[in-house]
Amino acid sequence: MNTTIRNQALEKQLSDALKSIARRQDIKEYIDQDPLMNRLLRKAADRYVTGEHRSQALITAKQLESEGYAVSLEYIGENTDNAAACEQAVEELTALIDEAGKASGSTRVSFDLSHIGLLLDTNVTLQYLLKLARQAEPRGVELFISMEESAKTDRILSVYTQAVKQYPEHIGITLQAHLHRTPEDVTSRLPVGAHVRIVKGAYQEQESIALPRSEELDTRYMKLVEDVLQQGCRVSVATHDEVLIDQLLAKAQISEAEGYLEYELLYGIRPELSRRLLDHGYPVRIYLTYGHEWYLYLCHRIAEYPPNLFQAVVDMVSEDQPDFVQQYVAEGITTSPQ
Ligand code: FDA
Repeated sequence: MNTTIRNQALEKQLSDALKSIARRQDIKEYIDQDPLMNRLLRKAADRYVTGEHRSQALITAKQLESEGYAVSLEYIGENTDNAAACEQAVEELTALIDEAGKASGSTRVSFDLSHIGLLLDTNVTLQYLLKLARQAEPRGVELFISMEESAKTDRILSVYTQAVKQYPEHIGITLQAHLHRTPEDVTSRLPVGAHVRIVKGAYQEQESIALPRSEELDTRYMKLVEDVLQQGCRVSVATHDEVLIDQLLAKAQISEAEGYLEYELLYGIRPELSRRLLDHGYPVRIYLTYGHEWYLYLCHRIAEYPPNLFQAVVDMVSEDQPDFVQQYVAEGITTSPQ
C-alpha cells in the first residue's frame, strides 16, 4: 500500500476524532475537573493560546508589535446558547476593545457572531455588534467577524451588511474560499472598500457546498484575492500555506497591492513563515487568542494539521516553559519549517 495515502487516511481519521472529541461536553468537563489532565493539556495549548486572561493577550500583542507585526485579538468562544453568557462575552469584548485601543494603533478584535447571540436572536446580535463598533471607532480598533459553518453564512452576512453601512472602516468580514457561494458573495455582498479576510475554511462541509483541500481550492483562493483587490477592498490573506503565499507573491497585482494587502497567521503556527514575510518587508498580522475555552481551540489546531499532535505530546511532557513569542523574533527562531 502507498505510504502517503495510508498516512493521509490516518490523519483524516485523527482529524475527525479530534473534532468530535472537541464537541464532547463530558470530556471537556472531565478535563476541567482533573488537575493533572488540565495542566498537561494547558501546556500543549500554551503554544497557540496566550493565556486565560486578556492581560496575557495584550502583553503578547505588545511584544509582537515591538517586532513590527500587527495583531488581531480573539476572546475564544462560539455557539453560546444562553443570553447571560452572550452578555458576558460582549462585556469582555468591550473591555478588550478599550484596553487594546489604549495600547496600540493597529489592533483588530475578532470574534464569532455565535459568541454574541447569533444562535438566539439575529437582531440582538446586530445590536451587540453596533454597540461594540461604537466603542471601537473612537479608539481606532477594527472589529472583524469570523465566518462559521455554512448553515450560518446567510445570517452572518446579513448582520455584517447592516452594520458595515454605519461603520465601513471599523467592521471587517471573513470569507471562506472553500464555499462555492463565496465568489458570488464577493460581488453581491461586499461594499466598495470593504475589509476582508480570506481563509480556506475550517469547517467540514458537503461537496455540494464546498471544495475540499485541493489545487482547485488554491486556484479559487488566488482568484478571490485578486477579485477582492479589484473591487478596492483591503485584504488579509489568512493562510499558513507557504506554497500558496509564494504563488500569490509572484503575481504582479498582489506584489503591487501595497497598503491593501497583508498576511495574517494564527499565533503559534508557522512562526518562521511569519518572520520570513516580515523580513521581506510584507505586512504581517498575528492572530492572538485568549480565554477559558483554550481546550476547544487546541483541538481545532491539531485537527486541522494532525502532525501537531506530536508537538502537543512534546509540549505536555516538556520540563521547560518555552517562550513562544521568541519564535517571532529575528534571531530567536527555534522551530523547523513543516
Ligand atoms: P491548509 O490547511 O491548506 O494547509 C497547508 C499547509 O499549511 C500545511 O501543509 C501546513 O504546512 C500549514 N498548516 C496549516 N495549518 C496548520 C497548523 N494548524 N499547524 C501547522 N501548520 C499548518 N476558518 C474559518 O472557517 N473561519 C474563520 O473565521 C477563520 N479565521 C481564521 C483567521 C486566521 C488569521 C487564519 C490564519 C485562519 C482562520 N481560519 C478560519 C482557519 C482557516 O480556514 C484554515 O482552516 C486554517 O488556516 C488552515 O488552512 P491553511 O490555509 O492555513 O492551510
